[in-house]
Amino acid sequence: MTRREDREPLSEEDLAEIAALPKVELHLHHEGAAPPAFIRGLAQEKSVNLSGVFRADGSYAYRDFVHFLNVYEAATQVLQTPRDYGRLTTALLEDCAANGVIYCETFLSPDFCGGGDLGAWREYLHAIREAAEAAERDMGVVLRGVVTCVRHFGPDRAKPAARCAAETAGNWIVGFGMGGDENRGELRDFMYAFDMAREAGLKLTTHAGEWRGPSEVRAAVEELRVARIGHGVRAIEDLALVDLLAETGVVLEVCPGSNVTLGVYPDLAAHPIARLRERGVKVTVSTDDPPFFHTNMRREYVSLAQTFGWDADTLRAVTRTAADAAFCNTDTRDRILKQLDTK
Ligand code: HPA
Ligand code: ZN
Repeated sequence: MTRREDREPLSEEDLAEIAALPKVELHLHHEGAAPPAFIRGLAQEKSVNLSGVFRADGSYAYRDFVHFLNVYEAATQVLQTPRDYGRLTTALLEDCAANGVIYCETFLSPDFCGGGDLGAWREYLHAIREAAEAAERDMGVVLRGVVTCVRHFGPDRAKPAARCAAETAGNWIVGFGMGGDENRGELRDFMYAFDMAREAGLKLTTHAGEWRGPSEVRAAVEELRVARIGHGVRAIEDLALVDLLAETGVVLEVCPGSNVTLGVYPDLAAHPIARLRERGVKVTVSTDDPPFFHTNMRREYVSLAQTFGWDADTLRAVTRTAADAAFCNTDTRDRILKQLDTK
């Protein structure tokens, strides 16, 4: 490998090519993708008091990860109806399309969309899918949904979330997973929900190895038997586990900008994404909650190029890994792969 200081800096032209690459994003929280102005607008319409959610400059205000989760849930209060979620879907897909994203999966929680009630969830899903169909037609960006339970809401609320996922599993709801506070509870407590989703034919992912260490990543692979892991980056602290990830082909949904902003790593140069990739782990790149973390997919790709010397071909390969790991059906995947070949 070329040492960082020995590498030629990438030219403006190289960086422009990298920014313009077609992209695939697998780890994006639906509410976390809401532009602050969109949330402020809804708060005004509905007279919801969101004091403490925004800084004076209009960005989201939080101190650390747990506070971020609180602010996230406070902002989500203004999303009260299926129509609100339809509008949010349009807004977030506009941002995806502007960043060259041609396929993305977002995390959708029945807890926020109807409080875990199946009938209400179906209505939210209908509105989201309608907006997604329009965005695909108008902007060429394809969306699929991954239902998530929320770890700090506990296993009892994960069950109705999994039931909503199982009952609506198909060509659009393609996966099940878990977000929330990784420091709360144990992964095995959520086995019932994950098994229900697996039996319904859904593909599985969970957040692990962002805040807790390698043992959490191992539990995700060996106990929940997920195909992908949200973050998973702290696997780097156990090289036997890194080898296991490489051998089994478990895919990491890596969100470098999120990790740096939240302080998991001091800066991108200290981030393990390049080391994981060099050791054979399938890594993909996502934004997590882009306006919260002051990022977007273009910025992620350009920063990786600048920090690790990843050229356009390397980033194309990473995008292809993401398309291969997408939870959509084969027809959709083939369509995306074909687009990646021609763009
Ligand atoms: N991490 C974990 N849980 C979440 C996040 C996140 O970035 N956003 C919303 N729920
Ligand atoms: Zn996340």
